[in-house]
Amino acid sequence: MGQDSIVIPFARYPERLIPRRSARVIYQVYPLTFYDSNGDGIGDLPGVTEKLPYIASLGVDTIWLSPIFLSPDGPDGDNGYAPTDRRAVDAKFGTLGDFRRLVREAHALGLMVLSDFVLCHTSDRHPGFLKSVAGETHFADRYVWHPGIPNGEPGLPRLPNNWLTVHNRPAWTWHQDRGAFYLHHFLASQPALNLNREDVQDAVIADMKFWIDQGVDGFRLDAVPFANHDPGFADNPWIDPQAGTQRENQRFAYSMCQPQTVEFLKRMRAQLDDHAAARGQSPPLLLGEVIDGREGGKKPTEVAAEYRNSLDSCYSFLTFWRRYPTSWDLKDMIAYIERHFPDGGHCHTLGNHDFSRFRSRMADLPPAARRQLRILACCLPGDLCLYQGDELDLTDADIPAGLEKDWMGRDPSRSPMSWTNERHAGFSAAEKSYLPVPDWHYFMAVEHQKGGFDSALDFTRRLIGWRQAQPALLAGDIIVIEAPEPMVPILRVSPEQTLLCLFNISNEPAVITPSHFMDRRFLHELRLGIDKKVEIGPYGHLAFGAREPAYATRPLRTPVPQGSPYDLAAE
Ligand code: GLC
Repeated sequence: MGQDSIVIPFARYPERLIPRRSARVIYQVYPLTFYDSNGDGIGDLPGVTEKLPYIASLGVDTIWLSPIFLSPDGPDGDNGYAPTDRRAVDAKFGTLGDFRRLVREAHALGLMVLSDFVLCHTSDRHPGFLKSVAGETHFADRYVWHPGIPNGEPGLPRLPNNWLTVHNRPAWTWHQDRGAFYLHHFLASQPALNLNREDVQDAVIADMKFWIDQGVDGFRLDAVPFANHDPGFADNPWIDPQAGTQRENQRFAYSMCQPQTVEFLKRMRAQLDDHAAARGQSPPLLLGEVIDGREGGKKPTEVAAEYRNSLDSCYSFLTFWRRYPTSWDLKDMIAYIERHFPDGGHCHTLGNHDFSRFRSRMADLPPAARRQLRILACCLPGDLCLYQGDELDLTDADIPAGLEKDWMGRDPSRSPMSWTNERHAGFSAAEKSYLPVPDWHYFMAVEHQKGGFDSALDFTRRLIGWRQAQPALLAGDIIVIEAPEPMVPILRVSPEQTLLCLFNISNEPAVITPSHFMDRRFLHELRLGIDKKVEIGPYGHLAFGAREPAYATRPLRTPVPQGSPYDLAAE
């Protein structure tokens, strides 16, 4: 399909299908609050391993494990996103042996494991940074230093430029011992690595190879657009010179989103592929986090698209819905993704550890509308990410004053996973857990949702199982049809299957006649007559041409051990 024909009024069977790549369902585990196996109040690696059969029972095929690297405790460590040693497992999570066991057991269940990887910065307590501060040979330029602009006055020089952190503060902090400013895009405790240098890139890639040697199947790459900076340190231009000095008004022409990152990722891809091949392994799967674009952080998808030749997939903000979309919002969004990722490679994610939970963002919506959006995300080309607890429809937790842990107020979506009715909802046997569990979450626990009724967990399992069984969803071309409001018809077409997914984006019933918007070959394959009218209820959906009756069966791709509490056959 050409660029202009992504949303079309009438669908003809394509002469040539464009197969889409990667369509994984990735479950994100935030190890700190997933499951505490040793009763110290903190989730750990053996805890994740113990719960692998549960994860497999969801029908997902991949796990993304948020960082378990050694990092300082407390806000400065950003829960592993400010590592002091990228090759060491933080003792609070367990040992490297525990990590390897987790990977082994995940593989035995047919699950791939992606390790989070903090690419662009380290902790300011990382030995490399301390050596850089001291100006040691080979280390002096590993981080980004600038002497500042002399202002002819006593005291500190002026800041090097107008670059800002993601928190809208100057991206430069003065280091007394080195007598210079260092660059950081996040906290001052997260100094940026100088990834403009190939030797620094190689050191980072060497750390990734280390994890490949531990058996991981790939990486979730943290904050990719922050990797490189303009070596001339030019000021970022203001988008509207009258509109103020906020980050949202800055065009990141120089501080980030640099063309060197594309080259860096190419080198990374080549080196990692070689390394994996030498070990007889498949190329590692690389999933990039790209939630900041050039225009004041906006339009990250355009930046993500620049990485698509090196990364398997990227997630941006597109499906982080904050309100119920109109049919036009949806068609525009799909067309936009298709334009930038014409053969797939976009990862749809409804929530993660950085943002309010999907259920809470969409609290005003009727449950049917929330479910409809989940189904819709499942019907788009690309990967799909599911954040721990979202399968239970968990809400954001109210964290009482004094118990907060995060510097950016992200604790509400990081509260413990709910397993049972027991203490801390079965997350931990300790007196005190890392974060408190809201009362409501006890009712939402896995234990209560496991049965055959239409719980959120049951719905998620059936939905994922259904998606995994549709060849057209996993690799098929997409055609979005410009049908009359409030319908959004999506066709997915692969050599094995034609699938029509119809969504009624309104709170009223709606009727549609498929023959008005598709040719006879489609109608024939979908077994739809010329006169067939389809009625869909408020916020409803219907699928034609599905391999099994929609959402009625639960094929699992991953074997769950017989007799396991998560063995669906036992339910
Ligand atoms: C990413 C992570 C976030 C972290 C930040 C800095 O956005 O998802 O949790 O704070 O990078 O590493």
